[in-house]
Amino acid sequence: MTDHPDWWKRSVVYQIYPRSFADSNGDGIGDLRGIIERVDYLAALGVDVIWLSPVYPSPQDDNGYDISDYQDIEPVFGNLGDFDELLTAVHDRGMRIVMDLVVNHTSDEHSWFVDSRSGPDSPRRDWYWWRPARAGMPAGAPGAEPTNWGSFFSGPAWEFDPSSGEYYLHLFSRKQPDLNWENPDVRRAVYEMMRWWLDRGVDGFRMDVINMISKDPALPDGAVTHGVLGDGSPHFQCGPRIHEFLQEMHAQVFDGRPGHLLTVGEMPGVTVDEAVLFTDPARREVDMVFQFEHVSLDSGPAGKWDLRPLRLLDLKASLGRWQAGLAERGWNSLYWDNHDQPRAVSRFGDDGRYRIESAKLLATVLHLHRGTPYIYQGEELGMTNAPFAGPDDFRDIESVNHYRTAVAAGQDPDSVLAALRLRSRDNARTPMQWDASPGAGFSTGQPWIAVNPNHVEINAAAQTGDPESVFAHYQAVIALRHAEPAVAHGDFTMLLPDDPVIYAFTRHFEATTLLVLANFSAESAAAPVPEESEWAAAELVLGNYPAGDPTSSVLLRPWEARVYRRRR
Ligand code: NOJ
Repeated sequence: MTDHPDWWKRSVVYQIYPRSFADSNGDGIGDLRGIIERVDYLAALGVDVIWLSPVYPSPQDDNGYDISDYQDIEPVFGNLGDFDELLTAVHDRGMRIVMDLVVNHTSDEHSWFVDSRSGPDSPRRDWYWWRPARAGMPAGAPGAEPTNWGSFFSGPAWEFDPSSGEYYLHLFSRKQPDLNWENPDVRRAVYEMMRWWLDRGVDGFRMDVINMISKDPALPDGAVTHGVLGDGSPHFQCGPRIHEFLQEMHAQVFDGRPGHLLTVGEMPGVTVDEAVLFTDPARREVDMVFQFEHVSLDSGPAGKWDLRPLRLLDLKASLGRWQAGLAERGWNSLYWDNHDQPRAVSRFGDDGRYRIESAKLLATVLHLHRGTPYIYQGEELGMTNAPFAGPDDFRDIESVNHYRTAVAAGQDPDSVLAALRLRSRDNARTPMQWDASPGAGFSTGQPWIAVNPNHVEINAAAQTGDPESVFAHYQAVIALRHAEPAVAHGDFTMLLPDDPVIYAFTRHFEATTLLVLANFSAESAAAPVPEESEWAAAELVLGNYPAGDPTSSVLLRPWEARVYRRRR
């Protein structure tokens, strides 16, 4: 574990979704002891930081993103003793742990909400967003919700509470009531909890939908563009006090602690200009944000289920804009997938004939951008989307609710299913593929969600030790970041922005320039590199085919990616 002040810029983060990673006790659900058993695998991969999706006590309505106690461990996952053991095992191997911080909302079973719900006189009533019915409408009647906002998981964002006659706000499931950050006692309680985890030894936080914590207290209706519900996001995304709240959190939680803790804010809808403000080190908010632009390019105006083909030109334009926008101030996080997104190789690559080549290409392109890369469990094996046969195969609340409401609204069930197959979050949540055994080495019991049948071919046991594997390629891109300062610190320049199949860019730092060339297609394609002669004698430092061919007007094979280096 290096204590270099810039360690988080040279680091690669690995995300674990504990429910699906490794099950040590055969109950079909991953757990902390399962992770402990696999820490050496992560050390062998070479990652620096582990981000743990939520492991706190939770009714699991949204697989742990509905927390009922911030300062304990969900019994299905283990206990605080197991957690401390994991932390030690990770630290002993020179890695760090970042916790998921879910404080836009709690579970409705959290004691804070139980208190709040007990009645309008509860001292914690104001810790959540309670409102009467819309003026002139009977409480509880359809359409009487205080605003017209839709929730992210289908249906209205308000739940009626018959005992008090009021509604509470839930941007996600009705079991995830939104905390009212206007109330200073809420903020104090959250900061105290964060300090408790840092005192225990954790190394930072990934902050769930953190740009939604400041709402416009007037709670205006949103525009209705599709269906009957309104889009409230302009009134709760990057709201009026968001920068104030994050600066206060920084001062109350992070200032004065030795070393540098890693903070990354998940921020749907964030713009480049906002991201500069959030990540400018001088403003003391967060180190980096997860932006969503590049994972929205294959969706239409009606949202994630409204499928559109992805065009490489759009992907390059988007990621290129983020690189340029955060070049002087701020810092990027880099990701293709996570527990909310389909599998990278199925979405951006080719999960058929060129699965291995395209998985390696995606690693090369992403990790060579300027920013901190994130690997989602299984991505390093080239894991793919799952072959869901029918609606009953899905487990995720978002998918289950969407199927039910879309079909009830008259949409064709087959088209709804087709969209779910491509976009459901469950694609990312099938068990980690450790080996070819029936439970994929994930569990000796019945996994909570079906194992992808392709685990007999795609698994860690088959790849570790094989120098041609996707896993070995991930080891190589991580090692390159650690060894070559231009990867972490170099300037980024996009090349060939109008080429529809080649993704090309340079990174420049001091006397070193790296050239990255990638062919996002199943046909051979020429990459007409500008100043080609300057690259004639360059060294090929990384490629995804057995032998590179550093010639003029480089001809790239299907899904080929190369990294060249030259020193002035
Ligand atoms: C974002 C998380 O990544 C997602 O999994 C979750 O459902 C929502 N926030 C609500 O916490």
